[in-house]
Amino acid sequence: MKIAVLPGDGIGTEIVAEAIKVLKALDLNFEMETALVGGAAYAAHGHPLPESTLKLAKEADAILFGAVGDWKYDNLERRLRPEQAILGLRKNLGLFANFRPAICYEQLVGASSLKPELVAGLDILIIRELTGDIYFGQPRGRRMATDGPFPGAEEAFDTMRYSRPEVERIAHVAFQAARKRSKRVTSVDKANVLETFQFWKDIITEVGQQYPDVSLDHMYVDNAAMQLVKAPKKFDVIVTGNMFGDILSDEASMLTGSIGMLPSASMNASNQGLYEPSHGSAPDIAGKGIANPLATILSAAMMLRFSLNQEAAAQRIEAAVQTVLQQGLRTADIYSEGTTRVSTVEMGSAVVKAL
Ligand code: IPM
Ligand code: MG
Repeated sequence: MKIAVLPGDGIGTEIVAEAIKVLKALDLNFEMETALVGGAAYAAHGHPLPESTLKLAKEADAILFGAVGDWKYDNLERRLRPEQAILGLRKNLGLFANFRPAICYEQLVGASSLKPELVAGLDILIIRELTGDIYFGQPRGRRMATDGPFPGAEEAFDTMRYSRPEVERIAHVAFQAARKRSKRVTSVDKANVLETFQFWKDIITEVGQQYPDVSLDHMYVDNAAMQLVKAPKKFDVIVTGNMFGDILSDEASMLTGSIGMLPSASMNASNQGLYEPSHGSAPDIAGKGIANPLATILSAAMMLRFSLNQEAAAQRIEAAVQTVLQQGLRTADIYSEGTTRVSTVEMGSAVVKAL
């Protein structure tokens, strides 16, 4: 089992180090190889996704990813920005299906920004399409390398697009995931305004007919954003496009208390996956030793389950995370009175001990 480890920028290196500690403690036979990605790779090699990093990722069974991005790269032309590394990995490896669970741990109900009764027992799965939509349409603007002699452009645009096969395959992923849960899918669109999302809605409906045992409803994205804070437990599986999924998954994560708790998996058609926390590189707290490593540790558990066929080990990690929460250990983002505040490294060590 070969794992490509790409820690990236900001808190990425700190949280990935803890996940590796946990993986090593399992005593399974992994081969792990680390490479630079994002701003760190740009600083060393002049590109956020160097050929060597991409090659390592392609050849691995799974990729454990930290986070990319730093304000100091905000003025770079678009193709050199750290974010291009994760977008490039998703596109090059065909990682089209992004699973972003939002689960509210019993011990963290009080850390949610919503009333406890609204979030207790919350367990939603957001399935975000990851390689299409406005993220990969045709852009033009001041920061594009192709702008050539027009640096002071008077307009900028991006194009939103989906192809039929792209929508069909993510629809199948969503319906199949729902079959293993409570058999309900909500497809989120903006069909009242956007042609792309009328197309999306029609195809989801069509594919849904092959899954008569799964109930399907459609919701506009603005309403979905509202329902997520009004009655989040009404949702089970949410399937949506790249852009809406980006936004709604951040929103859903906060319902659970902290984005620092949420793992994610990005899968391609051959079950190769990239596993990363749902949060970003948080340059404001990087190097302080206060980041929550649990989202990355739980991402490692997802990696064991989905790409490495190690269900028992995945469950061991998840149980160990429950144990440390039960022990009252909390990083700053989930701290509340009466609990014990710990650092990034202490949290990782506590999970290892609980294993
Ligand atoms: C995410 C992030 C990325 C995205 C950025 C870093 C490109 O926000 O994974 O949600 O927009 O997809
Ligand atoms: Mg995001």
